[in-house]
Order: sequence, then C-alpha cells, then structure tokens
Amino acid sequence: MDIAILGTGVVGRTLGSALVRAGHVVRMGSRSASHPAAADWAAQAGAGASHGTFADAAEGADMVLNCTGGMASLEALQSVGAARLGGRVLVDVANPLDFSRGMPPSLSVCNTDSLGEQIQRAFPEARVVKALNTVNADVMVNPALVSGDHHLFICGNDGAAKEQVAGLLTTSLGWRPPQIVDLGDITAARATEMLLPLWIRVMQTIGSPHFGFRVSPPASLPDSTA
Ligand SMILES: NC(=O)c1ccc[n+]([C@@H]2O[C@H](COP(=O)([O-])OP(=O)(O)OC[C@H]3O[C@@H](n4cnc5c(N)ncnc54)[C@H](OP(=O)(O)O)[C@@H]3O)[C@@H](O)[C@H]2O)c1
Repeated sequence: MDIAILGTGVVGRTLGSALVRAGHVVRMGSRSASHPAAADWAAQAGAGASHGTFADAAEGADMVLNCTGGMASLEALQSVGAARLGGRVLVDVANPLDFSRGMPPSLSVCNTDSLGEQIQRAFPEARVVKALNTVNADVMVNPALVSGDHHLFICGNDGAAKEQVAGLLTTSLGWRPPQIVDLGDITAARATEMLLPLWIRVMQTIGSPHFGFRVSPPASLPDSTA
C-alpha cells in the first residue's frame, strides 16, 4: 500500500518504520520539504521510505495517517487540502492535548465534540477513522509489549474504511482481529480521546507507557428458567 504519514514525531517515525518493514511505500510529510527529522527517518527506514511536505506525502496515497500534534492537526490537514484528502482513508491518531498550562495536559475539545469529528467536518469527503490514539507509539507497532488481552478502539462513519484500517493493523502492525473494538461512528472519538486523562494518570501510576485497556465481557448470567 502507498501510505502517507503526516508528522515527524515519535508516532510518525515509529509507525512509518513499522509500515516500511511490512513492505509498504511510506512518505512522511511535514511543514517543510527538508525537515531534518523526516530526512533522517527516510535515510534510516530503508527502501520504500521518503519525505516531503504534508501535501507531497498525501498526493496519491492509498491511506493517510494523521500523526501531528492534535492542536495543529487541522492546520496541517488544511495544508494538504480537501482535494488530496477526498475519498482517502484518513486515520486520525492524534489527541487534542493542550500542554499550554503544563502537565497534565487538558483536552482542547471534549464532551460534545472531538478532534476526530472536527477533522471529519472539515473534510467531509475524507473517510476518517480514529484509531491507535489510546496506546503508546511502541505498543501501536508491537501490541505484544503488553501482557494479556488488551483492546484497541476504532471508530468512523465509513464501514469499508474501518475494515481497511483493521486490515492494516492486523496484517502489518501485529494486532489480532479480536483485539480491535469498533465503537461505531466518528462521534465515538469523543470517548477514545477522553480516555487520555485516564491514560496519562495510569502511566504516571505504573511508571510505564506500555499498557493497554481491556474490555472484559460480562460473566454469563444465571439461567432464570432453571
Ligand atoms: N507519543 C505517543 O506515544 C502517542 C500515542 C498516541 C497518540 N499520540 C498522538 O499522536 C500525535 C503525534 O504525537 P508525537 O508524540 O509523535 O508528536 P507531537 O510532538 O505531538 O507532534 C509532532 C508533529 O506535529 C507537528 N506539528 C506541531 N505543530 C504543528 C503546526 N503548527 N503545524 C503543523 N505541524 C505541526 C510537528 O512538526 P514539527 O516537527 O515541524 O514541529 C511534528 O511533525 C499527537 O497528536 C499525539 O497526541 C501520541
């Protein structure tokens, strides 16, 4: 697959490298065509890796992964443009974390809206799938770092787009199909983004970012006819 990674941070570089290892053609996009972190990544990631502007990266991609800081995501996507995003599967990995008042960050949008929904509204022709935002970058590409069963939440309005993203997660990033929990339409991004305050608190409490959330099914109910 031809994949665009928007963002040069740890998430963009980690996902980009894993996807190149899995055999995909990956272009990393940033604000400048000569971003040093993107150039270093492309030099090290191997054949199939290249870099350019956000727009260069997204041009002709089968799938676009938004790995920019959540406060800047809409601006970054505007520079890609609605025409390049139209019809594309756009995986939103970002969290709208506002660090302007230090740690812990607050959410710049929550409760009745989410970054995932803002992106879908801004680019109605894009097929937005919120995914991977509830796990650390190392866990995104190596879910076995976490012991036991744990789950990954995805959501979005387009069922076929979610199937494509689930396919990428399972064939290229090591997730097993039962680990992927589809929460429904893009409004579920409110819930997965609002997990972040809990995620940060758990990370501080256990002293590691390498954990996952698990949804345990209900115990079977007693048979009322017995
Ligand atoms: N770190 C994790 O393990 C993790 C896990 C789950 C989700 N996430 C989410 O994934 C996203 C990426 O996280 P990250 O830790 O890799 O890095 P980050 O520091 O949150 O974001 C880095 C990227 O955002 C770009 N950026 C920042 N301000 C910008 C602006 N005004 N316009 C355009 N681009 C801008 C940076 O570009 P420059 O290099 O040019 O500044 C860089 O490419 C975030 O939304 C984060 O919340 C992170």
